Amino acid sequence: MSFYITTPIYYVNAQPHLGHAYTTIVADVLARHMRQRGEDVFFLTGTDEHGEPVADAARDQGVSPQELADRNAERFKALAPRLDASNDFFIRTTDEEHERRVQDVLQAVHDNGYTYKGMYEGWYCPRCADFKVENEILEGNRCPIHEIELELHQEENWFFRLSSFQDQLEQLYADQQDFVMPPARYNEALAFIKSGLQDVSLSRQRLQWGVTVPWDTEHVFYVWFDALLNYYTALGYARPGEDLTDRFWPATYHLIGKDILKFHTVFWPAMLMAARLPIPEHVFVHGFLLGADGRKMSKSLGNVLDPFEVIDQFGVDALRFYLMRDVAFGADGSVSMDAVTARYESELANDYGNLASRTLAMIRRYRDGVVPDVATDPELAGEFDGLSERVSALLGRLEVTTALEEIWQRVRRCNRYVEKRAPWQLAKDPSSAQALDQTLASLAEAVRVISVLLHAYMPASTATLLEALGAPDVSVGGAAFAATGGGRTVAALEPLFPKRAPEPA
Ligand code: MSP
Repeated sequence: MSFYITTPIYYVNAQPHLGHAYTTIVADVLARHMRQRGEDVFFLTGTDEHGEPVADAARDQGVSPQELADRNAERFKALAPRLDASNDFFIRTTDEEHERRVQDVLQAVHDNGYTYKGMYEGWYCPRCADFKVENEILEGNRCPIHEIELELHQEENWFFRLSSFQDQLEQLYADQQDFVMPPARYNEALAFIKSGLQDVSLSRQRLQWGVTVPWDTEHVFYVWFDALLNYYTALGYARPGEDLTDRFWPATYHLIGKDILKFHTVFWPAMLMAARLPIPEHVFVHGFLLGADGRKMSKSLGNVLDPFEVIDQFGVDALRFYLMRDVAFGADGSVSMDAVTARYESELANDYGNLASRTLAMIRRYRDGVVPDVATDPELAGEFDGLSERVSALLGRLEVTTALEEIWQRVRRCNRYVEKRAPWQLAKDPSSAQALDQTLASLAEAVRVISVLLHAYMPASTATLLEALGAPDVSVGGAAFAATGGGRTVAALEPLFPKRAPEPA
């Protein structure tokens, strides 16, 4: 089965921040998990480079939009590997191939009769030479940059007949109740549609930084339509000489933040209908990461969690783990360095890291490093019954936080098992040799299964651990308890999540 997952493409007028890292990490967890299941996966991320905000930022910095885009796209491109993201392609909307395909698709929309020329009326700032959208306008109709009064201007635009998709969109929502997830977001999108759709502007006349409208070259496409199409165009040229469109379109999941819901759940399916292209299976809308004070993160409030600082201090797996664990995926959640530290110490270093080190150390100390080749303990095995199926089912519905909790319950269960069986006691008494064999074999197997299931969340540390366990296979199919017998030799393992030196006072 094919599995195609996307992140929003990020505006290049800003620096990469935690909000961007968040979506990329979630998408990566899902892409990796699906690969572990043997699915045919394509994972796309990239940058959104046209439009007013980029043109404005470039002007402010005294460079051309292309220069600004080139410079900042590199920063976003570099973010993906730092997050250990395994994206299959990185699209830039200034790619020539993208631009050409945008023109092809929107030409089809035009040819199919879904466009017309009309008057666009909006609030215009003469200093910016730009129309301001509603949420940019300061009180008293003032420009957010120059704080001068905006002028009501009109210009001729091409419009998209969004209103003619009222019934088809309502039908789509009736037929595909999981088109938008979670359900609260489905209701929000449907309510927007039911309130009555109005046509939307498809082109801009004054602004030159965009993809040229092929049937009227005085215009460029409104940036959102150019941007949304990235999900479709990328498949046409991501692999030189190969067209992946039939293999991966329609997309399985578009991941987005709640602020861009309308574009993805209303404009986008209507645009695809107008071009007579298949509609994506799901749009999953996640919440916002907030500062520790529950307010929107902002530099001026000093409540920003910097992903790079977390990576430098704790490693990338800790960042990935923390975000998937501490913020219920789909909801808003507060994040802070204190919370990262607490999770790192109690769950990564203590719960999981300790379980791994002690299991390997005991196998080395008591059994010369060979996992005893004996039947595992039914008591512990029972705790893993159906686990990989349950985790797979949850991840299939993007319940990344719940799936992680399922796995973590087993980590805790294993630690209780170690305490209860006290292998260090068993080792003192030769008549307990069989019990010790069984305990060590069971723990080795439990740690292996847990690590295979955690691999999508924390690829680097789990790979190190599985390698040391002598069982590097990460396929989810191999995550059934006791699927691997003993007899393997384990290697020494450095602490996966070392205790950090206390911060200098
Ligand atoms: N370029 C558009 C998307 C076009 S997709 C065809 C855009 N870019 S963005 O860079 O402003 O935002 C990208 C994503 O980051 C959005 O999904 C947005 O919701 C998300 N986030 C921005 N700040 C965020 C948080 N504080 N928390 C979580 N996600 C947030 O919109």
